[in-house]
Amino acid sequence: MKFVRKEIGKMPIEEYAPDEQKGVKSNMALNINPFGVSKKVLNRLKSIKESTITHYYSENRDLLKAIAKYTEVSSQNILLGDGCDGCLEMIAHTFVESNDEVLIPTPTFHRYEFHVNMMGGKVRFSPMLNFELKAEKILALTNKHQFKILFLCNPNNPTGVPINKSELQKIIKCFKGLIVIDEALADGTNVSSISLLKKHKNLIITRSFSKIMGLAALRIGYIVANKELIQQIRKITSPFKANGLAQELALEAVKDVTHVEISVKNIAKQREYLFNELDKINLEYTDSITTNFLLDISSLNKNTEKIISNLKKNGVLVTDTKAFKLSKKSYLRIAVSNKQENKFFIKEIKKIK
Ligand SMILES: Cc1ncc(COP(=O)(O)O)c(C=O)c1O
Repeated sequence: MKFVRKEIGKMPIEEYAPDEQKGVKSNMALNINPFGVSKKVLNRLKSIKESTITHYYSENRDLLKAIAKYTEVSSQNILLGDGCDGCLEMIAHTFVESNDEVLIPTPTFHRYEFHVNMMGGKVRFSPMLNFELKAEKILALTNKHQFKILFLCNPNNPTGVPINKSELQKIIKCFKGLIVIDEALADGTNVSSISLLKKHKNLIITRSFSKIMGLAALRIGYIVANKELIQQIRKITSPFKANGLAQELALEAVKDVTHVEISVKNIAKQREYLFNELDKINLEYTDSITTNFLLDISSLNKNTEKIISNLKKNGVLVTDTKAFKLSKKSYLRIAVSNKQENKFFIKEIKKIK
């Protein structure tokens, strides 16, 4: 179209998350905390003052302090954004220029590619080996290309697999561009790279309140990085940006560490249940440490789209893996749900078998 930027013209419209709750008995597509939000957040919601939603709001200092305590950095190392996705957008807007080369190992979350494309950057994908990131492969590519940014997702979406610590360290030691590590799924795991920020000034970490904290609809996330990088990214934020309600509720969520710990334990228990049941019917899956994993359905010898639509007819939602850039089509992305919904999913999968 005549007036539209060329990057936008060639892009498809990505639909909003569909509201498909009608008739759903088992939602294995959500990829959020299946045990919900902290009771403390719900109690706080009941006592929100009118001015929280009628006045312009600035950054909530108490929230910054609480995130700083939770992540063991200083408040100056944190910048809030509209969800982790909003943080990724700010990063792309600050650093990606037209024709900059950016490296994205696959399969992974599709929004890194989106934000780079929006800025006219050039994405190079590097398929992982058996869903594992290999430093040698990444670093070999850096001999041929000058990458401005490397996007990593740890633990990874869709596999739930964490990056091997020594492979990650080799990459961080040698990669010359910026390294953005998306830790949206890292709460309650021990994979975080936040402790490396002091030593490596080219590291940027993004986090989310949508996942284990359960605040997806409030659209709040944060960037953790060294002060100089935070100040540069801050330049592109709007003075009207801060969402007062989201910040007040996020403050309760981040202070309730017990809720995070209990949720992580319960998710692990449900994940084990699913894995044991899938073992019984010889279906393979990725070695996830978080809510999501890939289920290999190639042994079912059936068309993937058909399986997805039949599951849906029977009340089970799973995620199509097209967006993740997998080398094979025969995978479903499964997100751990609560006991009842997981049981229903297993019953329906066994019917296909
Ligand atoms: C790995 C990963 N990063 C970021 C996001 C976006 O999270 P947010 O809701 O905080 O924007 C998601 C959401 O699915 C995700 O899976």
